[in-house]
Amino acid sequence: MKRIYYFLVFAVILSAGVYFLHGAEAPVCESPDGLTMVSFERLDGGRMVYSVERDGKTIIKSSKLGLETREENLSEGFEIDDIDYASVEEKWTQPWGENKEMTDHHNEFAVNLSNSEGTHLTIRFRAFNDGVAFRYEVKSEKEQLTLTGEKTEFNFAGEGTSWSIPANFETYELDYRKLPLSEVADGNTPFTFRMDNGTFGSIHEAALYDYPEMTLRRNDDGVMQADLAPMPDGTKGIVKGEFKTPWRTIQIGDAAVDLINSSMILNLNEPSKIADTSWIKPQKYVGVWWGMHIGVQTWVMGRQHGATTENALRHIDFAVENNIQGVLFEGWNCGWENWGGSQSFDYMKPYADFDVERIVAYAREKGVELWMHNETGGNIPEYEAVMDKAMAQYAAWGVHALKTGYAGGFKDGYRHHSQYGVQHYQRVVECAAKHQLMIDAHEPIKDTGIRRTWPNMMTREGARGMEWNAWSEGNTADYLCTLPFVRLLGGPMDYTPGIFDLDYNRAKADKNRIQWNGDNSKCCIKTTLARQIANWVIIYSPLQMAADLIENYEEHPAFEFFRQFDADCDWSEALAGEIGEYIVVARRAGDRFFVGAGTNSEAREVDVKLDFLKQGERYEAVIYGDDVKSDDRNDYIIERRVVTADDTLHIAMAEAGGCAVTLIPKAE
Ligand code: NOJ
Ligand code: CA
Repeated sequence: MKRIYYFLVFAVILSAGVYFLHGAEAPVCESPDGLTMVSFERLDGGRMVYSVERDGKTIIKSSKLGLETREENLSEGFEIDDIDYASVEEKWTQPWGENKEMTDHHNEFAVNLSNSEGTHLTIRFRAFNDGVAFRYEVKSEKEQLTLTGEKTEFNFAGEGTSWSIPANFETYELDYRKLPLSEVADGNTPFTFRMDNGTFGSIHEAALYDYPEMTLRRNDDGVMQADLAPMPDGTKGIVKGEFKTPWRTIQIGDAAVDLINSSMILNLNEPSKIADTSWIKPQKYVGVWWGMHIGVQTWVMGRQHGATTENALRHIDFAVENNIQGVLFEGWNCGWENWGGSQSFDYMKPYADFDVERIVAYAREKGVELWMHNETGGNIPEYEAVMDKAMAQYAAWGVHALKTGYAGGFKDGYRHHSQYGVQHYQRVVECAAKHQLMIDAHEPIKDTGIRRTWPNMMTREGARGMEWNAWSEGNTADYLCTLPFVRLLGGPMDYTPGIFDLDYNRAKADKNRIQWNGDNSKCCIKTTLARQIANWVIIYSPLQMAADLIENYEEHPAFEFFRQFDADCDWSEALAGEIGEYIVVARRAGDRFFVGAGTNSEAREVDVKLDFLKQGERYEAVIYGDDVKSDDRNDYIIERRVVTADDTLHIAMAEAGGCAVTLIPKAE
């Protein structure tokens, strides 16, 4: 017995994977699989640096650490007091997510430092099999500190290729750039890269609270450095004397899809603060939305008003008939006549042609979840003054889902992604949790995995979504093949997929069509129809919309896919893909599986092994694919066949095409 005990103690120390490289000044921490390593070093003069290796190859070479405040320098002048280390292997579950069963397996060391002012600084490092992370934990005597910058660097050890959007403190709705690492001047995160030695990585952050967002900017030494979103006075915000920064994360993998299959960002967030999550329900939804973007309806009340009682009841009926749980009606509340101007909405008062009591009663009778919509136009003070009261009203109506929007500049020079914005978005999440409302935020702050702690923070936009196809040059298939490897690493996205009328023929036939953004006669969806279906699987969102006008789905044979689809996923895996080229994803919800595949502007064939299916079970596969013999992207095929876990599916995709598959156990 005693021997077993000693062996166990020895095994725990070994598995801790934490050791010192050059004495106590340079601790090193390995991932549980021993492949990834992060090390810290305190250099002469008191500067602090870290570096990262994967499989013996340096990825991030000696990079500076530290924070800058007006009151004191938190990047130099510290002595090491001691170092704590820990090793964690823990299983946890979440009420919803790509995967409900999670494992947090990492090794950690925390360097505890102090300076002559009596300020304590802990830099906590973690090494996971899927990446490394670190954050700063400050304890100073001062009541508050004025943050002026962050020293954190990401000094790439060699050349590589990167995929990112430019750094911008107001919007993430920007197109991707593929650039050599050495040529990037600035970028937002997730900032994804492939080193020339073949290793993939992505820099991002986890658990962003009460702190500005981090972007990356090349500094005077030619190194990418954290650049925090500023406040109007140029500082980065006010933090308490005792505070923790978000985690700085570097996901690492040997294949591009490893980044998607990583759960490090969620593992770095705290467990749920919502005890009863029974009201939080992933769901599919339809709504009055696309009509406004393509110019055949209006948010504002008038001849073309979308959110009318009649339209609402029609959508509720459609939802019931098509196994769809939720309905959203944008333009239901007064104030849209001010949008883009003085930005003043009434969050309580419906337009006269939207009989909210009747709609609430009808939705309840039919068992459909009614969503509410709050476009703020960026008027934060006005929204914060009424949101508690408005949300209480929505709760009284039996509403459990709220889409928010921030299309417009914040008042008084505040930036969307500054500490001011981060605080606001969080206040909304917490207020919504109090009223049992799930949030779908548009023009949001970036996703850093806070859904683990606040599981009512379901989904968000935070990239160029479907709407861009309605009134701009639109999103290419290359963009759609980049999205999963960049933006989606942060978390779910409300892309609002699934437009079936690819050329908006119904809208073009409407002589009253409105032009929101100049000439929209050339706007269209730049993918095949099958790819629109595949996006319901590829672009994970626990609230998943069928975004087209519902009349475009009526009688459409391919809409059967969405009817069968289940947004409440249990397991997911990105099976294959290359950044900007193609992607294949499989998900399971209950005993059903769904596969989504998509390619860029090149036609492509992929073989998908079905070995993720339950062994011994027979499944009916319904394949919604491109008609590769046709040049018309509207043409698709639907094929049925019986398959098992031993089979391989051969998928042929047209240019900008895709394929979606439902796999449902076959009753004997
Ligand atoms: C932009 C959002 O992304 C979109 O979904 C919404 O319809 C409009 N703003 C109006 O709120
Ligand atoms: Ca938007």
